Amino acid sequence: MAQFWKPGTEKPRLVEDEDGGVIFLSSSYSSSSSGYGYVSIEKQRQRLPVYKYRTAILYLVESHATTIVVGETGSGKTTQIPQFLKEAGWADGGRVIACTQPRRLAVQAVASRVAEEMGVKLGEEVGYTIRFEDISNPDLTRIKFLTDGVLLREMMDDPLLTKYSVIMVDEAHERSISTDIVLGLLKKIQKRRPELRLIISSATIEAKSMSNFFLSSKRRQALECEELRPRLEPAILSVEGRGFNVQIHYVEDPVRDYIQAAVSTVLLINDKEPPGDILVFLTGQDDIDAAIKLLTEEARSNGKNSSGLIILPLYSGLTRAEQDLIFSPTPKGKRKVVISTNIAETSLTLEGIVYVVDSGFSKQRFYNPISDIENLVVAPISKASARQRAGRAGRLRPGMCYRLYTEEYFLNEMSVQGIPEIQRSNLVSCVIQLKALGIDNILGFNWPASPSPESMIRALEVLFSLGVLDDDAKLTSPVGFQVAEIPLEPMIAKMILSSNELGCSDEIITIAAVLSIQSIWFSARGAQKELDEAKLRFAAAEGDHVTFLNIYKGFLQSGRSSKWCHKNFINYHAMKKVMEIREQLKRIALRLGIVLKSCETDMQLVRKAVTAGFFANACRLEAYSHGGMYKTIRGSQEVYIHPSSVLFRVNPKCVIYHSLVSTDRQYMRNVISIDPSWLTEVAPHFYQQQRHNPTIH
Ligand code: CDP
Ligand code: MG
Repeated sequence: MAQFWKPGTEKPRLVEDEDGGVIFLSSSYSSSSSGYGYVSIEKQRQRLPVYKYRTAILYLVESHATTIVVGETGSGKTTQIPQFLKEAGWADGGRVIACTQPRRLAVQAVASRVAEEMGVKLGEEVGYTIRFEDISNPDLTRIKFLTDGVLLREMMDDPLLTKYSVIMVDEAHERSISTDIVLGLLKKIQKRRPELRLIISSATIEAKSMSNFFLSSKRRQALECEELRPRLEPAILSVEGRGFNVQIHYVEDPVRDYIQAAVSTVLLINDKEPPGDILVFLTGQDDIDAAIKLLTEEARSNGKNSSGLIILPLYSGLTRAEQDLIFSPTPKGKRKVVISTNIAETSLTLEGIVYVVDSGFSKQRFYNPISDIENLVVAPISKASARQRAGRAGRLRPGMCYRLYTEEYFLNEMSVQGIPEIQRSNLVSCVIQLKALGIDNILGFNWPASPSPESMIRALEVLFSLGVLDDDAKLTSPVGFQVAEIPLEPMIAKMILSSNELGCSDEIITIAAVLSIQSIWFSARGAQKELDEAKLRFAAAEGDHVTFLNIYKGFLQSGRSSKWCHKNFINYHAMKKVMEIREQLKRIALRLGIVLKSCETDMQLVRKAVTAGFFANACRLEAYSHGGMYKTIRGSQEVYIHPSSVLFRVNPKCVIYHSLVSTDRQYMRNVISIDPSWLTEVAPHFYQQQRHNPTIH
């Protein structure tokens, strides 16, 4: 019997809405409506391509310090290899098998799948840990999924990661910043722990260059002179895919609006093509929500043919029930349309996809060390990504991929590979983590891809101004060590520490919790006006951070009511998450000796604490054009207040932003007004004419 849900959990259901065919989510799902028929889980496992390689994988892991496994998405790497290892005894004697993922949602999804396959309760033998959510048990968990960021944090307490017998660094081709740091550090750990085994797995990887990375020149010499066990030269195993052919379609002329084009394409497929689910790649929650709204409207007006569409979003921050729906089998006679970020490119496999619609874009982080600006940009994907996306269509039978760009563009303009995140990110968090792990020579660190020296210097400068690093670029005591201990970006950590001195830690911890989730607002889906009105009810003249405090207060006063959230366009699940994170931050704060203290109504203290952490993001109003043009004080870059901010069109003289997003302009998200004189008070070095340069190692 297929087991799609864990016994005892509530099963989500897909239900038809009354007036016209489009299907929405509800509770309680009946697995008997499966369109696929039943296949036992054991059979499903045996059908996966990696199954044939079970013995080979186990042999290689036994005999080699590092094994590189390359295999198409969906071949079973993530869900099967940890189980093979467990069955072969790698988790005996209290040892643990770790498998890292760059994405939180992927960690949750694969952990629950593996627990289900093994017939165990999630959190016991199979568990997972992501930041602020630990569903594992130190005594029971034998297979642990975790983000690579969490693995880095674990190294602070246990530098040699002694509890793990095998560490599988999964999705290595993504080259996330934490994956790269983890790879560099694991290489060091291996020297001290010859019994540790590494598996580097990925969908597409330059296996040879990864292998060379793990094989230093010294080791090469050693290999030549003696027979070493385990073999130091990494083994490379390639698992053949079982993908079917995917027919590629291109648009004839470039499209202007990829959301509209994606929606039209979905409707076209639904009209003309035989059954099979559709996967649409867009870039982020905003455009996914917009596309869902548009598709729902157009499907309704399109009439009969569009009934039976089950439209589902896929992005991080979904609730458990929403995630489960993505993986639930499509009922007979229905067609699922999953509209996703690039998480479905390789991290997650959805069965039943026959059609892929590829916008050609994804949201990417870009950092410019000259202007010192980092933002999220909707940017063109690489050819490698485009191929991966297309491949998602060929799992079940021959599929089709509709690319919303021209063939000429694909052939001549798309880059071959993406750029590793470490080369396009602000390195502040990365530097402090390495420093906390005792890696002082950061430029000389063995990176799979080296970050630019300019970015490194910028990061050192900011950390120096934050009081985290001293003149010798060593962590200061206690501030530097405390900031490193808080599992949030250093600027937030510093804000929390300063709030202790200012006497507003109670408020700042709430703000930190809200800032660490994506959004507490319910996505408007056609109700922008009502959302704006709801925001006005909480809006504070000081800015978004203080507005969050008003919302938090309101939520508590309502008795944490979901009805209250609904009425005010606030996302109840997000608020519950805020409460959880807040509790954890409170515990961390107590550990650091911070006693929670409220400043009651004195919001100036709150604004000062924010300034103490985020002074580098200060901007001054330059002109009232385009609704208020600001310039960053340090870099003179043009920025604007995002329309979602309560300070939009209010335009205080001097503000600090939390992050930037870039569309037609650079927009500041989460903005608070400050007094510019505070800047030289909290960060004299940063805002002095003659800047102090910390020693760079
Ligand atoms: O890691 P890789 O891409 O090689 O494959 P995987 O994630 O281990 O997936 C193997 C199979 O498990 C696929 O057929 C997935 O559809 C299935 N799976 C699932 O049904 N539900 C999940 N939450 C995860 C995987
Ligand atoms: Mg995988």
